[in-house]
Amino acid sequence: MQNDKILILGAKGMLGGQLLKVFGARAIGWDRQECDVTDFDDTKARLARLKPDVVINCVAFNDVDGAEDKVEAAYSLNVAAVGNLAAVCKELGVPLVHFSTNYVFDGKAGEYQEQDEPNPQSIYGKTKHQGEIELAKSTDKFYLVRTSVLFGPKGESELSKKSFVDLMLDLADKSGTVKAVKDETNSLTYAPDLAEAVRQLVDDKKPYGVYHITNSGQASWYDFAAEIFKLSGKKVELVPVSASEFARKAARPTKAVLLNTKLPALRPWQEALKDFLTI
Ligand SMILES: NC(=O)c1ccc[n+]([C@@H]2O[C@H](COP(=O)([O-])OP(=O)(O)OC[C@H]3O[C@@H](n4cnc5c(N)ncnc54)[C@H](OP(=O)(O)O)[C@@H]3O)[C@@H](O)[C@H]2O)c1
Repeated sequence: MQNDKILILGAKGMLGGQLLKVFGARAIGWDRQECDVTDFDDTKARLARLKPDVVINCVAFNDVDGAEDKVEAAYSLNVAAVGNLAAVCKELGVPLVHFSTNYVFDGKAGEYQEQDEPNPQSIYGKTKHQGEIELAKSTDKFYLVRTSVLFGPKGESELSKKSFVDLMLDLADKSGTVKAVKDETNSLTYAPDLAEAVRQLVDDKKPYGVYHITNSGQASWYDFAAEIFKLSGKKVELVPVSASEFARKAARPTKAVLLNTKLPALRPWQEALKDFLTI
């Protein structure tokens, strides 16, 4: 196990950066410069040369509203590239860890177990769901990890998705008043905690399949923002607004909390947020 080669794709993203840290000397990090996953032949050749023991795919088209206009780009990264990676991993006989989202659910039931049926409402959600299908169709050796609202240190890549925490702190610096949606609820996930849980999943050789990994608890965007401002000591007026007042291109589930029925629970999101903002 100590000599395993763990290949992390999308290594300059938020989650990829944390996975590099937890796997330490065993990790090999590639981002777009080292391996563009949309170039199928090149990806296949590079993986065949490297001969990794495990592949972890953190590459994604993550811009939820942007995907409504950039359907092809979202499909290319979230579906086609996943199918290719899964087929390559099957040929090499190695497991593939891949990530999906709570936005594959429609939000009507509010809370979702691993086996619940997706019904995505946005292009982002639809492509991530199709990616899940491609993955399971192309290989048996997969860990499909659904997660939700990542926060933590920003990835090294310039385009790496900025977390809600940074967004709120930036807004607070620019204005005395910040609006946050009160009637949308999600699970929240500290990227370093998720990375460590993924390391355990891989190292413990847990059964392949679907896993839900987030911090414990749930929050509306308003609750999340309130905790961010409390812990960071920012003096702002936080105004609750309804999702209908806050126009965004993509539809989002009203409540899509991921229930984890297979793994030990992670610590509450408030504790993780405190670590992130104060340590
Ligand atoms: N962030 C969230 O709130 C959230 C919530 C639920 C699920 N997830 C899932 O969690 C996973 C990790 O998300 P994340 O937030 O860590 O992503 P991220 O920060 O946006 O990182 C994605 C990485 O992939 C790289 N990349 C993009 N196109 C590529 C290509 N063609 N070939 C190789 N690399 C490419 C990006 O590089 P460039 O910057 O150069 O493009 C970036 O470094 C994704 O599957 C995402 O869907 C995330």
